[in-house]
Amino acid sequence: MKNILITGGAGFIGSHVVRRFVTKYNNYHIYNLDALTYAGNLENLVDIEKASNYTFIKGDITDEVFISNLFQKHQFDGVIHLAAESHVDRSIEDPMAFVKTNVIGTVNLLNAARKLWENNYDGKRFYHVSTDEVYGSLGAEGLFTETTPYDPNSPYSASKASSDHFVRAYGETYGLPYVITNCSNNYGPNHFPEKLIPLFIHNIINNQSLPVYGDGNYTRDWLFVKDHAIAIDLVFHQGNNHETYNIGGFNEWKNIDLVKVLCQIMDTKLGRTPGKSAELITYVKDRPGHDLRYAIDANKINLELGWSPTVTFEQGLQITIDWYLENQDWLNNVTSGEYAAYYKKQYL
Ligand code: NAD
Ligand code: TYD
Repeated sequence: MKNILITGGAGFIGSHVVRRFVTKYNNYHIYNLDALTYAGNLENLVDIEKASNYTFIKGDITDEVFISNLFQKHQFDGVIHLAAESHVDRSIEDPMAFVKTNVIGTVNLLNAARKLWENNYDGKRFYHVSTDEVYGSLGAEGLFTETTPYDPNSPYSASKASSDHFVRAYGETYGLPYVITNCSNNYGPNHFPEKLIPLFIHNIINNQSLPVYGDGNYTRDWLFVKDHAIAIDLVFHQGNNHETYNIGGFNEWKNIDLVKVLCQIMDTKLGRTPGKSAELITYVKDRPGHDLRYAIDANKINLELGWSPTVTFEQGLQITIDWYLENQDWLNNVTSGEYAAYYKKQYL
């Protein structure tokens, strides 16, 4: 039996990773450590919460003593680190929260792993989950590869870039066995409705305006969250130590085109006159430092590990929209409380 720590497992991507590992690997005991910030939600994991190889631990990765004791207590063999502050707009409002969790929290975990493992790194692995946003912005041409220089533009991406550098530095300096993946924009069930796709699904359902930043001509590369979880599983088990892998959907969309497709599908699902939901589109003030385009070259993980997306964008959007329509209690629960204050400050 191996003890695996997954951080941020109550969040969007983390919950899909936890579910995959708990259900697929009964030779692993999965410890899900999450502070349950506004973005963490144990409702995401009700289906597996009673599994005998699963334990939830509420705790903060920035708490040095707590983290150190936790590693000593459970003698983790591997770490998959997803806990983070993850929303660019919030990072513009409060950069320090991102420095604390994304940088200091990551270094705390690295220190605890190093202390526990340093006499014998055999079979140990620290997996750091990161973003393509560390590479900055592309122009109209080109793709991010694993050797693209880091050039982050937002406090969020700067904090993730910093954490990536620390992970790499612990590998170089102390020999810590690590892997890093940099993934493009995810979408799917359980996505907190502050990000583009779930926010717009929520607003279409509720007949609220759809706030498109700037002219809407910004491009993102979208990947279905379960395909990200499959990639994480593969890299955790078969990736080479001290390597980075880019993960992407080969699926670039301009925001405004994506929003129009979303509106069309929602019109059909909600029985609205075609074109009705698109009337909610409102162009609003642009995000400061808004990156023009992200697009991933995922050839390395494809060629070395045989990964490629299994779900088309059309399929993924259908699954996602159906999930939100069938889980409106989830949506209502996460959009009450703190979210209402955030929404008012950001958009009203
Ligand atoms: P999320 O915001 O949905 O979830 C983050 C989770 O971390 C939450 O459950 C939250 O409670 C927890 N958390 C936050 N601060 C914590 C702390 N101090 N201690 C312990 N737990 C804490 O984020 P997500 O979208 O699931 O992203 C997960 C990871 O994947 C992040 O590291 C993010 O940078 C990376 N990533 C996300 C995307 C994307 O499109 N969402 C793409 C590439 C990479
Ligand atoms: P987001 O989901 O916040 O992801 P990221 O900024 O990490 O790529 O945003 C995706 C794109 O959608 C990005 O170009 C910003 C844009 N956007 C809007 O136009 N309006 C919104 O209300 C939000 C949240 C995002």
